[in-house]
Amino acid sequence: MKKELNHWISVAWPEWSDQKWPIFFKEEENKIKKVLHSNQLYNGKETEYLEKEFSKYNKSKYVKVVGNATQGLHLALAALDIGAGDEVIVTNYSWISTASCILMQNAIPVFVDVEPRYLSIDIEQIEKKINSKTKAIIYVHLYGFISNASRLVRLAKKHNLKLVEDASHAPGASYKNKKAGNFGDIAVLSMQQRKNLCCGDGAIIVCKDKKLSKKIYQLRSFGSKELSYNYRISELAAGIARVRLKRLDKENKKRNEIVKKIESKLSKLDGISTLKPMKNTYPVYYKLIFFYNYNKFKKNLDYFIKHMRSKQIPVSKTYPPMNLHANFNLDYVPAKGVTWIKPFTKKKFPKKMKDLNLPVTNEISLKKAFQINIPPYLSEKNITNLVKNLKKYVEIYKK
Ligand SMILES: Cc1ncc(COP(=O)(O)O)c(C=O)c1O
Repeated sequence: MKKELNHWISVAWPEWSDQKWPIFFKEEENKIKKVLHSNQLYNGKETEYLEKEFSKYNKSKYVKVVGNATQGLHLALAALDIGAGDEVIVTNYSWISTASCILMQNAIPVFVDVEPRYLSIDIEQIEKKINSKTKAIIYVHLYGFISNASRLVRLAKKHNLKLVEDASHAPGASYKNKKAGNFGDIAVLSMQQRKNLCCGDGAIIVCKDKKLSKKIYQLRSFGSKELSYNYRISELAAGIARVRLKRLDKENKKRNEIVKKIESKLSKLDGISTLKPMKNTYPVYYKLIFFYNYNKFKKNLDYFIKHMRSKQIPVSKTYPPMNLHANFNLDYVPAKGVTWIKPFTKKKFPKKMKDLNLPVTNEISLKKAFQINIPPYLSEKNITNLVKNLKKYVEIYKK
């Protein structure tokens, strides 16, 4: 049987290049040895120091560290008292954890489309979705781009809603000189292996005030009368993150330079463009997002991706629209005790979420956007090869 390519899975640069991410150095190796010999592999000094150091780095007073960002987002909603039947407004364009955390609290996700320029939640559409059950908005700095943060903070305040910032892609990014993580009531930054500040698995939670931070601390490790969890990070991961935090700015800068180089070489390319940041922001790239103007080509995006991969250019599609995910399109009650389904229907969803009208995410995710990983040590050879192949494709396949 012919093997189908999975266009959604991001692929690495070819082995022959210096494309690897992450690259570990002697410092990480020494840190691992030190932690091992300390005999303390969970919840110890490394975790505490990481919290302090990130707090200083990010100019965020209240920082806690957990096992991963999925846990972090869950704890964020739990700490904000989001519960059964509450509605949470969420972008439709992100990794599934951004919305599945809502289900974990038995609350109801209300998907909102994105705006096409920065791929951020469409603020114009949020207000139409707010009702008496609405408790929070989850906002994502998709692919390391912060946009419209001030407007969103104002909007949440106006309607007395909590704002949760999923800053998983954006450690080190800033908006009007304020770093990602400082806009919401709670923000979560992933340290999963592919991310810019990576330690295998881990996440940073930034809280707006002391009370929330205390609650996160209690919920993280069985410290509350409320249902609480084991969402601790290991000391090994925290130690690695501390080492890598020192390199974060330098590596973000390198990634930015690589993107600038690629963009300058492609500036006159007709039909393929890149996602550009909002004014007064500093984006951080772990992937570069391109737009394929399918109207200008004889072939569609899927064809383009297959073609580029056959030339060893590791492009892939971006996230599928979240409303298409199986979690939101079930014919059955997904788990006993999941009450969030009830407000929709007695037995089944009246309307599956895949039928929601979210045209911008659909068009961009399914027909236009593609991505390529941008590791900080990407070689000139790879950059040249990428540019050459994109130009060639345009030459051959433009209508
Ligand atoms: C936007 C976003 N939010 C949340 C997560 C979840 O992160 P983690 O793997 O640390 O649970 C990811 C992971 O890719 C993500 O991309």
